[in-house]
Amino acid sequence: MSELAQARARAEQLRKEIARHDYQYYVLDNPLIPDAEYDRLMRELRDIESRFPELVTPDSPTQRVGGAPREGFAEVRHKVPMLSLDNAFSEEDMRAWEKRLLGRLDHDGPVSYAAEPKLDGLAISLRYEQGLLVLGATRGDGRVGEDVTANVRTIKSIPLRLFGDDWPEVLEVRGEIFMPRAGFEALNARARARGEKTFVNPRNAAAGSLRQLDPKVTASRPLTMFCYGFGEISSGPPADTYSASIRRLVDWGLQISPELKTVAGVDGCIDYYQDIGRRREQLPYDIDGVVFKVDSLADQEALGFVSRAPRWAIAYKFPAQEELTRVLAIDFQVGRTGAVTPVARLEPVFVGGATVSNATLHNMDEVWRKDVRVGDTVIIRRAGDVIPEVVGVVLERRPKGTRRVTLPKHCPVCGSEVIKPEGEAVARCTGGLYCPAQRKESIKHFASRKAMDIEGLGDKLVEQLVDNELVHNPADLYHLTKAQLVGLERMGEKSAQNLLDELEKSKSTTLPRFLYALGIREVGEATALALAQQFGSLKAIQAASEDELQETPDVGPIVAAHIAAFFRQPHNKEVIDKLIAAGIHWQEGAPRPRPEDLPLAGKTFVLTGALSRPRDDYKARLQALGAKVSGSVSKKTDYVVAGEDPGSKLAKAEQLGIEILDEEGLLKLLGEGR
Ligand code: IVH
Repeated sequence: MSELAQARARAEQLRKEIARHDYQYYVLDNPLIPDAEYDRLMRELRDIESRFPELVTPDSPTQRVGGAPREGFAEVRHKVPMLSLDNAFSEEDMRAWEKRLLGRLDHDGPVSYAAEPKLDGLAISLRYEQGLLVLGATRGDGRVGEDVTANVRTIKSIPLRLFGDDWPEVLEVRGEIFMPRAGFEALNARARARGEKTFVNPRNAAAGSLRQLDPKVTASRPLTMFCYGFGEISSGPPADTYSASIRRLVDWGLQISPELKTVAGVDGCIDYYQDIGRRREQLPYDIDGVVFKVDSLADQEALGFVSRAPRWAIAYKFPAQEELTRVLAIDFQVGRTGAVTPVARLEPVFVGGATVSNATLHNMDEVWRKDVRVGDTVIIRRAGDVIPEVVGVVLERRPKGTRRVTLPKHCPVCGSEVIKPEGEAVARCTGGLYCPAQRKESIKHFASRKAMDIEGLGDKLVEQLVDNELVHNPADLYHLTKAQLVGLERMGEKSAQNLLDELEKSKSTTLPRFLYALGIREVGEATALALAQQFGSLKAIQAASEDELQETPDVGPIVAAHIAAFFRQPHNKEVIDKLIAAGIHWQEGAPRPRPEDLPLAGKTFVLTGALSRPRDDYKARLQALGAKVSGSVSKKTDYVVAGEDPGSKLAKAEQLGIEILDEEGLLKLLGEGR
């Protein structure tokens, strides 16, 4: 095939593809591919058409500004066309732009630019006659848009009548209608709860909400508008500069970007771009770049337009946050608590300013909802420092023979059973201490202060021990030798000996500490203490049925199931036996006394003000001794424990004559006083 024939075939293919994406985007408000991919298709087509101008057809998507009117809305011809913007993607692009400007302007000193974030929404034109809103129109193809007046009228931040009385008789303002992120999240959450379709991003949500045939729907959507330009103005612009003119709109009740600034020269533009880029994620709405405009309206006039975009303005875009790539594999990672998380391994792709080759799929429900499969082309989003995620699948690019992803029955790391309880999103490996992936974290937990309290066994050291295969489970800690330790990084004779001494010391412990150290899911300090008191011995706990476990205060069916599942696992039993064989011991007590025999039975406490330990800590201790802990002071309160800055509860207690304790008094009561 000749080069021309090849180019013709490719151009035809691109036109078809672009037309389909235009339809999806503009008519259905349901784009199938990220903007960056669409832009690439357009660029490729433009490129072919500029090399072979004879291939340009009147219906080529390059021949219009964009946007297909949807049936159902009346057409509106814009008196002043709604233009588009040229893009810059780098500092060089920006400098080249300024150079072109300076070549056309007769300028001493730096050019003053108006700078604003580039909002990611939908361009709109509002027409006010005698101060009354008479028309709201979408941009459409720039010349003809859609009449969405009824919908625009439902947006509360758009005045139906301009404030004051010094407005021009005819005033057309242009701006962006958009949906702040919080509103978008809430809208999607509602849709999800009702089992309805969600929007891919705030921009599509805004477009989809505005282009509703039923204005009631629009009215229920959290839309707002910032103005950034003018159409027809009967008396001409209200000031000599863009920034001063646009600020006049505020007096008339319209909104502009609170980020609007004037900056000097291209260096000022670059500083502004960097500053907004840093703050991008904190802004309450999505932006995809920054727009700079020559501020002097006389200069704007002198510079004029080229085809569809003004020479006096430019959009300096941020790197795309969404890109397409292919799923090479779906692996399962095992986290600290045994959570088995599906992760997509991707063909590396540059997105949001970094190369991404993995993206979390969160959990199986998410995988199934999005129906991500190996071989799929997916949209990857990476915004700011947020971990990259798979937004969705481009179904039409799915190859033949793909299969739905299933949850592995066994842990990919240790082979233990994987369970996904009904109604829960997270699947978990039941391997516990035996699973290497959970090992490091469980050993860190085992050694921690409230557990076995092994001083000197910090996170870094645990990692070294596991990586060097010196420790596979907590029991191995007690078989470490000095020679092994001395071989590790930053470990001298002395610190090795100290650690061995600490390990030895830790062997003498308590049953609650030991239980807590095992890292059973949902078994925190307080539950461990309650279990120890309830059953008195480890054997009794191990032998208890789920029903019996539930007789323990604060142990419900879920916690009981976790405890029973833990002790059922042969690996866990083995590790416990080894720990005991290594010499770990404690004083076993009698089973829990009857509640009415506890020392603080029947007493009600209220904790207020800042205490030196978390309030929950004290709460658990008080409860373990039979007390009730309440949130508010009443006649039934026996003690109020007042920390620093206690506030109104203390005052009320004084009023009611209730006994007040300070933290020291409380510790004494708990048997921990000095
Ligand atoms: S000025 C003649 N300013 O970006 C200049 N546009 O890619 C017209 N946009 O169609 C546009 N924020 O929908 C301008 N601060 C801003 C903007 C902005 C978002 C949109 C607008 C325009 C598109 C061009």
